[in-house]
Amino acid sequence: MIGRLNHIGIATPSVEKTAAMYRDLYGATKIGKAFVMEAQGVKVLFVDLPNAQLELVEPYGEKSPLANFLKKNPAGGQHHVCFEVPDIIAARDDMVAKGATVLNDGEPRIGAHGTPVIFVHPKNSGGVLVELMETPKAGH
Ligand code: CO
Repeated sequence: MIGRLNHIGIATPSVEKTAAMYRDLYGATKIGKAFVMEAQGVKVLFVDLPNAQLELVEPYGEKSPLANFLKKNPAGGQHHVCFEVPDIIAARDDMVAKGATVLNDGEPRIGAHGTPVIFVHPKNSGGVLVELMETPKAGH
C-alpha cells in the first residue's frame, strides 16, 4: 500500500532556471543544489515544500531517458509522482502480481534519495508515471 507523497517530478530544460522561478514567483525558500546522476542520465535539483518536494529533472548526456519527453514538451512539464513504500521488493512483487507493468524489467535502482525505486507504467496509473520509493530509514 502506498504511503506518503514524497515528490513530484518535473522535467525541465534547466533545473536552475526552473528552481529560480519557484523561488522568485512562488516564494520557495528551500532550494537544493543541483547534482548529476550519471547512470540515470539526469541532473536533479530538489525544492523542499512543507509537505513534499519538487524534483526538478533535466536531461544529462546523450541517451537521457528524458530526451524524448522534452522533445514532446520543450518547455518541460510534469513527469512523474513519487510515493513512499516500506519495502520496494514487496511493492514490486505486489504490482507485478496484480498485472502492472514495472519498468526496467522490475529491477529496482537507486533513486535520487539513495533508496531503491521502481517506476510503474502510466497505463496502470491513469496516464501518470508513478515512482515508488522505499522510505528512507531513520537517520537518512
Ligand atoms: Co523521482
